[in-house]
Amino acid sequence: MPRPIQARIDLSALEHNLSVVRRHAPRSRVMAVIKADAYGHGLLRAAEALARADGFAMLELDAAVRLRDAGYRQTILLLEGFFDVDELALIEQYHLSTVIHHREQLAMLSASKVRRRLDVFLKLNTGMNRLGFTLEEFPAVLETLKANSAVEHITLMTHFARADESHRSENIAAQLQRFNVIAGGRYLPRSMANSAAILRFPETHADWVRPGIMLYGASPFTDATAEELDLHPAMTVSSKIIAVQSLKAGDGVGYGHTFRAGQPMRVGVVAGGYADGYPRHAPTGTPVMVNGKRTRVIGRVSMDMLHVDLSDIEDAGVGSPVTLWGKGMPVDEVAQSAGTVGYELLCALAPRMQKVT
Ligand SMILES: Cc1ncc(COP(=O)(O)O)c(C=O)c1O
Repeated sequence: MPRPIQARIDLSALEHNLSVVRRHAPRSRVMAVIKADAYGHGLLRAAEALARADGFAMLELDAAVRLRDAGYRQTILLLEGFFDVDELALIEQYHLSTVIHHREQLAMLSASKVRRRLDVFLKLNTGMNRLGFTLEEFPAVLETLKANSAVEHITLMTHFARADESHRSENIAAQLQRFNVIAGGRYLPRSMANSAAILRFPETHADWVRPGIMLYGASPFTDATAEELDLHPAMTVSSKIIAVQSLKAGDGVGYGHTFRAGQPMRVGVVAGGYADGYPRHAPTGTPVMVNGKRTRVIGRVSMDMLHVDLSDIEDAGVGSPVTLWGKGMPVDEVAQSAGTVGYELLCALAPRMQKVT
């Protein structure tokens, strides 16, 4: 029998979550964000389930090429664009769309031999101060792009820094206003919204929305659960108990004995640790499900194993099923307990993790 830990990817959950995007943004085209191996779910597996999306977005050129080779004919957008002039030949050959966010890229484009059909997403820095041209730079950059005969389509794009914080539109207002000032009267297609903006700020939907995390069934917010947003978890990481220990009062558990039993208790040892992608900094108390019942992680997570409290789960023993996150155990709850976000847990799944559908 193989080691019992695995990540099950639920393709119907991905499809469902895409339909939730459509429900929120019925007039926009949907660019499914499948960077980082589709947030850990597997690029081609996720693309298959999301095949009805109007486009895909990612950062990795090799992944974009693989997707095109697999037969997808939609827009495939490189969210950071190209890093070297040589990449433009592949972008042209595979008819990929590219972000342009920096003058270096404009210079590379001018120096390249690309001659036709380039689909450019011009990234504007409206306040996130990560990628993009400023309001002041924009007019000259647009003229340069328009003067380049290889450039066929231009879409204006920006990204919000604080759309996930609350319902309050102040969090996006300044960026939205700046974007509208820049884009106003240009009659070019626009793209702004990530999952948080799709769910809470319809005024940002425009021509293309770019959902990531919501497609995978996690919440971008701390004040609304995925279930409340009607999102279904697409990844369930499960394992089994491989040993049970009976502790006396005062016994310590795991490395550093960071947990000590206050009274006699049973603890389960689960096949799953930080080398599988479970966060090492998940403290005692992090929720976990054993035999379909919620309990808690106790002690320090080790490389390949972690401990769970079996005090109230008398029927649990070696071989009992454990859900680390996914169906019945929201990844967002585990992430919050570990001081991070669902995004990080999904993306940090270790290569050794077996993925099944
Ligand atoms: C430019 C851009 N658009 C869209 C997304 C999708 O964001 P989310 O996963 O929050 O929906 C990301 C992800 O970080 C991004 O970098």
